[in-house]
Amino acid sequence: MTGEYHFRTASDLGREQTELLQEMLDEPTHRLVEPAARPGARCLEIGAGSGSIARWLAERGASVVAVDLDTEHLTGLPGVTVLQHDINDGVPPGGPFDLIHARAVLMHLQRREHVLRELAGALAPGGMLALGEVALHNPPRVLAAPEPGDVEVFLRVLGQAKEAFSGANGMSFDWGFEVDGHLAAGLADVRSRLFSEPLVGGSTQGRYVHNLAVQLSPGLLARGAAEADLDRFCSLFLDPGFRCWYLQFVFSSGVRN
Ligand SMILES: C[S@@+](CC[C@H](N)C(=O)[O-])C[C@H]1O[C@@H](n2cnc3c(N)ncnc32)[C@H](O)[C@@H]1O
Repeated sequence: MTGEYHFRTASDLGREQTELLQEMLDEPTHRLVEPAARPGARCLEIGAGSGSIARWLAERGASVVAVDLDTEHLTGLPGVTVLQHDINDGVPPGGPFDLIHARAVLMHLQRREHVLRELAGALAPGGMLALGEVALHNPPRVLAAPEPGDVEVFLRVLGQAKEAFSGANGMSFDWGFEVDGHLAAGLADVRSRLFSEPLVGGSTQGRYVHNLAVQLSPGLLARGAAEADLDRFCSLFLDPGFRCWYLQFVFSSGVRN
């Protein structure tokens, strides 16, 4: 199933992408997984990226297995066993787990519901499955744009990107809102929280979306997007004159009885 992930963590842009995610989301993620982050807990971190959550868990005395398709940035992590592994191929050894966490991973998988059930089945009694997912405001609401015509460019390229890289072609931006129901089908004490703030050009969220847009640009060009549109689209995310409701982050967890 490798090939369904449209980005590449083992690249400079991929590293920047995961570092910006860490900057935006590590704090709420710590709150999400904190109840299970105990000394001696067996933890599985899926799609570990640059490893900040795996490191945080290990620093709390947990024993951590961290897996990713690309493990290039998962170095210098005492207490963490790093495995190059595609989660579509099943749960890696080391379980049953007291905590399984994945952030911005299952939304990229075509078999995300199946994988979620497998992960729930790999929990120890009392173990927690915790997922963070990225969703979009639908439609996004532009609050301020630097130039006339920017809103049209933004919506046009966004439409092209969604068509090229979401649904049957990759990511789901609805999945985050569906996770709670899937967790409730098999786990107890299911909780979900939604977090969002406006994207302001040049902010961490702005730089994150700029990074994604740059990574996806060659694919969009190949599918016929106009180069001038793409350049303007990318630059909006770095311009403090651009503000819009764009990303939402959904954090969910459930516990095995
Ligand atoms: C958007 S990044 C998120 C990284 C990290 N979880 C974070 O939030 O900072 C998604 C990560 O999942 C990894 N990934 C994607 N598909 C995967 C799969 N099928 N199995 C394992 N890892 C996967 C990617 O290589 C990438 O590092």
